[in-house]
Amino acid sequence: MSRVPPTNRPLCIGLSLAITWLTGNSWRRTDSLIEAIHDPDFYTEFAQMAEQAHMDFLFRPDSLFVDPDVLAHAPGFSSLDPTLLMAALAQKTCRIGLVTTASTTFIPPYLLARQLQSLHHISHGRAGWNVVTALDGQQNFGIESMPSADERYARADECVNVVRQLWSGYPGSALLHDRRRGRYADRQQIATLDHHGHFFDIKGPLTLPSHPAGDVPLFQAGASDTGRDFAARIADAIFAATPSLAAALELRKDIQSRAMHHGRSASAVRVLPGLSLFLGDTREEAQELYQSSLSEHIESRQHAFLHQTLGIDVSTFAPAQRITQAMLPPLDHPVRSRTHSNLLRQLVARESPTVASLLKRPEASGSAHWQVVGTVEDALVAIEHWHAAGAIDGFIALPGGSIRSLELTCQALVPALAERGLFRNAYRGSTLRDHLGLAQAGK
Ligand SMILES: Cc1cc2nc3c(=O)[nH]c(=O)nc-3n(C[C@H](O)[C@H](O)[C@H](O)COP(=O)(O)O)c2cc1C
Repeated sequence: MSRVPPTNRPLCIGLSLAITWLTGNSWRRTDSLIEAIHDPDFYTEFAQMAEQAHMDFLFRPDSLFVDPDVLAHAPGFSSLDPTLLMAALAQKTCRIGLVTTASTTFIPPYLLARQLQSLHHISHGRAGWNVVTALDGQQNFGIESMPSADERYARADECVNVVRQLWSGYPGSALLHDRRRGRYADRQQIATLDHHGHFFDIKGPLTLPSHPAGDVPLFQAGASDTGRDFAARIADAIFAATPSLAAALELRKDIQSRAMHHGRSASAVRVLPGLSLFLGDTREEAQELYQSSLSEHIESRQHAFLHQTLGIDVSTFAPAQRITQAMLPPLDHPVRSRTHSNLLRQLVARESPTVASLLKRPEASGSAHWQVVGTVEDALVAIEHWHAAGAIDGFIALPGGSIRSLELTCQALVPALAERGLFRNAYRGSTLRDHLGLAQAGK
């Protein structure tokens, strides 16, 4: 396995507030507080816990679609608007970054630019934007069928470009506040955009100036060839699905060379895999937590996911039946997510797993994230190993099973990483750009 030099920057660590610790059966625990998930106050304690651990940012994935059949059994993506939630959390925290998710497929760039810049002001420079092209939701926006992934990325490209121009078109430095002469702003510094592109026509300028902290850092999720290239051009960080060390190494190495190809430094894009953490005081306790989180609906959901993502209906197969490369549809077979399909195809090509063993792998779960089920020490060892191998720049913690995993993540795991010199033991700045080590303005 080829190694990539580890980063000499400290790890970059985010906490996902996607209520991953309530998925599967976990919301049914008596201590789950499930009734409160649409109350912003529910998230305050976790946000403050992450800030006490000096984590870089809070992170909130999002979907503009919710499946009533999923809702019948679990909260799924039933959630507050993530940008509004982050605005509420900005009032309860003062240093931690606030990374929201917003889709370039459905939300017009003028609104995106305005909402994100507003969050940046509300949080005094702590906003981040996870740029997604989305997988579902077209029916809520009058679109008959989901545009192809390549069309969504072309739109995302233009959208991000326009958003950035809207931000730079009304710089904070344009404000004069010259009471004596009656000059509020320097007209020369305010640009109308007059953008006429393939997807958008926008005159500009934006209704508010850009925050002095510099541009809102961009995150990206989606790792097909087109997705990686998009990230290498525009992103400061990637939220990655890397179920194995080999997958993370391959992704980071590839992103580094693509970033250089686009004239950026190799380390310009931080590769941050999702890390699912089912933590307990003992390994037995963690295993129990993990097992008790698995719901009776998981198998039928996995079958549907495999059908959509791999193009094979395994629901009629015997558990011992092997899935081989020869059974896979051609590469251009339409799939819901090319990222997840590629991960599954690689697994099948490498291992020809049986149906039963495939269903136990993170690749078959819909998220395909790196996973630790064990003690804080087990998680430390795994993180140190991936970091030393040069596979990660950090991670986004996805606590699993119960609130205890979240507490152990913030109160034991992250402080232990800081003790070992892999993470900060105090904030040195107050904006997300500061935490990520990005220059104040531009790159
Ligand atoms: C790890 C990961 C997380 C994602 N999170 C979201 C999300 O929160 N909301 C969303 O609408 N799409 C999300 N997506 C979907 C991507 O934005 C993209 O639409 C999808 O992966 C297809 O791109 P691809 O062809 O590069 O795979 C995510 C994808 C990945 C791989």
